[in-house]
Amino acid sequence: MRVAMIGVGYVGLVSGTCFADFGHDVVCIDKNAERIEKLHQGIMPIYEPGLDVLVANNVKAGRLSFTTELAKPVAEADVVFIAVGTPSRRGDGYADLTYVYAAAEEIAKHLRDFTVVVTKSTVPVGTGDEVEAIIRKVNPEADVEVVSNPEFLREGAAIEDFKRPDRVVVGVSSERAEEMMRELYRPLYLNETPLVVTDRRTSELIKYAANAFLATKIGFINQMADLCEAVGADVQQVSRGIGLDKRIGPKFLHASPGYGGSCFPKDTLALSRTAADAGHPVTIVDAVISSNDERKAAMAERIRQAAGGSLEGKTVAVLGLAFKPNTDDMRDAPSLVIVPAMQKMGASVRAFDPEAMEEAKAHFDGVFYASDTYDALSGADLAVILTEWNLFRALDLERVAALLGDKTLIDLRNIYRPSEVRSNGLTYHSIGRP
Ligand code: NAI
Repeated sequence: MRVAMIGVGYVGLVSGTCFADFGHDVVCIDKNAERIEKLHQGIMPIYEPGLDVLVANNVKAGRLSFTTELAKPVAEADVVFIAVGTPSRRGDGYADLTYVYAAAEEIAKHLRDFTVVVTKSTVPVGTGDEVEAIIRKVNPEADVEVVSNPEFLREGAAIEDFKRPDRVVVGVSSERAEEMMRELYRPLYLNETPLVVTDRRTSELIKYAANAFLATKIGFINQMADLCEAVGADVQQVSRGIGLDKRIGPKFLHASPGYGGSCFPKDTLALSRTAADAGHPVTIVDAVISSNDERKAAMAERIRQAAGGSLEGKTVAVLGLAFKPNTDDMRDAPSLVIVPAMQKMGASVRAFDPEAMEEAKAHFDGVFYASDTYDALSGADLAVILTEWNLFRALDLERVAALLGDKTLIDLRNIYRPSEVRSNGLTYHSIGRP
């Protein structure tokens, strides 16, 4: 099939490349000329493990190309995907649909023959109706069906997630469009990946419900972690003890400094707004949002206490800035709250992240960017693990102790055993463990 993918971000680039790898002819379009130029040179505009090789293979095979011009690829496409950003609208938390609607308008005038236009962006219930209305207004002749096909991939494991998803969700009304979506995902279908075919509104809501549920699991275990600290219990064991129950499951039960990233914060907020407007507030989700915000803000205070009550004049080595490992994505990362709060408390910060340093530079003032982990630790009084990159799981703890003035390691991801760290002469603080 011929596919046009509008938006070459984390979702568009991975989805477009994987569709090409499935054997379809894919043109990826982005109005960001720098991104497209980089891709022409074989340079990935984002960090995602394995993506560079997959892109190169499919470009070489002639199935994948990149452009800033959408007229021709849209006119020739059987399926046009909209995979542009839907960030939180500044000030009110609604999903900002400006990019989606602009893309719909731009697509509309170039549509030829029957075309399926798919919203892959995460969009509130009813957005598909609006996209369809925009297309029909701009091009009343267009032979088009607007379909919802939300994406569930995780950054850092995006290719694997796209190629081996737990399910594919499609919100569609005609048999013709459904058949085209089935054809598009045929390799997965053959692998017996469940395809959930439903109506467009339900499909749009499934994406938000999934993210809100996962955020709720995280929020829940984080509150359990605080309770563990208060009563002398171990949250790791609580997670294991409940996660082995198949009705609960082990995933998303790791205590942390709070969830961040490009999806959960904005999607929980947008769902909250949708629900309130519909007269049915999702108060559980509202509580998750506020407890997560409070948690991120409370982390700097926790670090101050671990430092003996003051960060004034202290140098803190921050290990990890991205919102999670294996990505350079800084959107809504806990570091964006914790680092400035520590600086406000009088700390100097030396930071290192294996992939997110360039992204991070746009966000922080007065941070020293170290060349590697041990450079970050050199001259620091204490260290804080903010992101659980594998690199930080295998620290030479003896060397860490020798480098840190106060010999204090604060592990906000619980990636070490307390006894192991302490035996190397470090004071160790983690989350929800005695
Ligand atoms: P992103 O911000 O990385 O990429 C969006 C791209 O769209 C940018 O390169 C931008 O230049 C381009 N763009 C915007 N308007 C355009 C237009 N009119 N024409 C051409 N290009 C245009 O966004 P990301 O992270 O890929 O997210 C896209 C959507 O997918 C969002 O709705 C997000 O919620 C959803 N999503 C994201 C996931 C993730 O892990 N990042 C996972 C699942 C869904």
